[in-house]
Amino acid sequence: MDIDAISAEIKSRIETAASLPELEELKVRFLGRKGIIAELTGTIPSLPAAERAAFGQKANLLKKDTARMLEEKMAALSASAFANGHQAVDISMPGVAQSIGRAHPLTQVSEEICSIFTRMGFSVVEGPEIETEFNNFTGLNIPLNHPSRDAFDTFYLRSIPETQNLLLRSHTSPVQIRVMKSRKPPLAVIVPGRVYRPDAVDASHSFMFHQIEGFVVDKEIKFSDLKGVLEIFAKAVFGKDIKMRFRPHFFPFTEPSAEVDISCIICKGRGCSVCGRKGWLEILGSGMIHPNVFRQVGYGPEKYTGFAFGMGVDRIAMLKYGIDDIRLFYENDLRFLNQF
Ligand code: DAH
Repeated sequence: MDIDAISAEIKSRIETAASLPELEELKVRFLGRKGIIAELTGTIPSLPAAERAAFGQKANLLKKDTARMLEEKMAALSASAFANGHQAVDISMPGVAQSIGRAHPLTQVSEEICSIFTRMGFSVVEGPEIETEFNNFTGLNIPLNHPSRDAFDTFYLRSIPETQNLLLRSHTSPVQIRVMKSRKPPLAVIVPGRVYRPDAVDASHSFMFHQIEGFVVDKEIKFSDLKGVLEIFAKAVFGKDIKMRFRPHFFPFTEPSAEVDISCIICKGRGCSVCGRKGWLEILGSGMIHPNVFRQVGYGPEKYTGFAFGMGVDRIAMLKYGIDDIRLFYENDLRFLNQF
């Protein structure tokens, strides 16, 4: 084999190579395990003994030169590719923006509602999702035989003997008991949080959902105070053109009690499928705090009066945005979440 002829051939092939992939190919062809130079050194044992050393030296030199030439040409080609705006990285380009995400729609609605009340002087308090049976029921004047105390309506937890029965709170009202026991009136408190009920999941039910409880306790708090506060709230969330009505209802922890409806925001009260042709949408429960609740926390019912209300955040968010399935909030589908 004429090593000089091979050397000249290698040199000219590298010089005329026009692309990086072509150079990669040449590298394999020249320096690879079965490449030309490996083939050259493979012939050494068959040479006359006197020629072997000199041939070996030349082959070694050729190997080094080839590697150097390939490297230089690769550097030159990638530099010119960059200069021409092809491939490689253009460090003058702006970076790829990282999306920072946003609050979940239920968090947004909950924060909006709480801020309406904090502007009226309410303070935000949170309570634990694991509650005592006393705070969730007894303290709120829900007697033992009340159906919502039944294990079917509440997730009970395995209780440690000798302690109170524990459960996953089925509403945010127990925070009334916690706050009234630990503070003295005047109180104006708003309580956002998760609640749990063993309901079968469907378009309007979830075993976990969100509520906001609110209550005010002081001397001479009247039903008209409740009406005024709730009207400010409902108009701030649904627009100042809505109408409101208070419908008599029963809750064990308030007397009198009322459910509050707003005129349907879809049909403006004419009747449609969202309001079930009634023209009204129920948005919350409310009433004057029952004297028995005050007795349970050691307040004198002759001295203090108060009002309370509770609403479902998921329901309000569904009405506000025209969402027809509560499960959408819990599926973590970005196509849904990115719309808020
Ligand atoms: N706790 C009730 C529920 O989960 C909602 C409620 C109704 C809260 C009337 C109140 C109230 O404070 O006065 O269904």
